[in-house]
Amino acid sequence: MKIKSADFLMSNSNVENCPNQPLPEYAFIGRSNVGKSSLINMLTSRKSLAKTSGRPGKTQLINHFKINDQWFLVDLPGYGYARVSKKDKKTFQKYITDYFLKREQLVSAFLLIDIRHEAQKIDLEFMQWLGENGIPFSILFTKADKLKPKAIERNVKNYLDQLLLGAWEEVPNHFITSSSNSLGKEEVLNYIQEINTRFYEGK
Ligand code: GTP
Ligand code: MG
Repeated sequence: MKIKSADFLMSNSNVENCPNQPLPEYAFIGRSNVGKSSLINMLTSRKSLAKTSGRPGKTQLINHFKINDQWFLVDLPGYGYARVSKKDKKTFQKYITDYFLKREQLVSAFLLIDIRHEAQKIDLEFMQWLGENGIPFSILFTKADKLKPKAIERNVKNYLDQLLLGAWEEVPNHFITSSSNSLGKEEVLNYIQEINTRFYEGK
């Protein structure tokens, strides 16, 4: 898919105030610093559409980016950010869970996992929660440029094996990506395109 336009529309902390447009949307979620905002920039070939930072906790709100005037990419704050207070964590959890539970335009979530790390409880729990609530998602393994091809293969296999040992009967749809070298760009955009086509055909 060709990205002809990518525009920031709005930020907010309440799902009720998200854009009132019947367009399919895709939300990026995962631990702080996993590379959600960077991946949005990579997919859209825009250097600083979404704000990124080397320090975790950069994205704080629900951010809507309108793509090709037809669909939305949504950048969300990360979870598992140690430096926020308990109260902030609660507020955050509430508006993010509200977003996932109430946003009818959400057609698929992308759960980002740093390809270098072993499966972490917080991600497994979030995946479980998405499953229980019937929210479709794909896994995006990020930062693949940090590993050699053999290690990429080994880590992905280990990760998916862990899911199969746990609650999952089959492995979720997944992609291997890097925002540094654009690995996975075509695959992810094609996947989005397929869902968009189905969405518009079903109208
Ligand atoms: P929060 O908004 O804090 O939740 O973080 P985020 O998940 O949006 O992460 P962000 O995109 O801001 O990236 C965090 C850091 O990881 C930045 O220093 C990025 O440059 C770096 N980074 C992101 N993606 C990649 C990647 O594919 N490869 C490499 N080498 N670094 C990456
Ligand atoms: Mg971010």
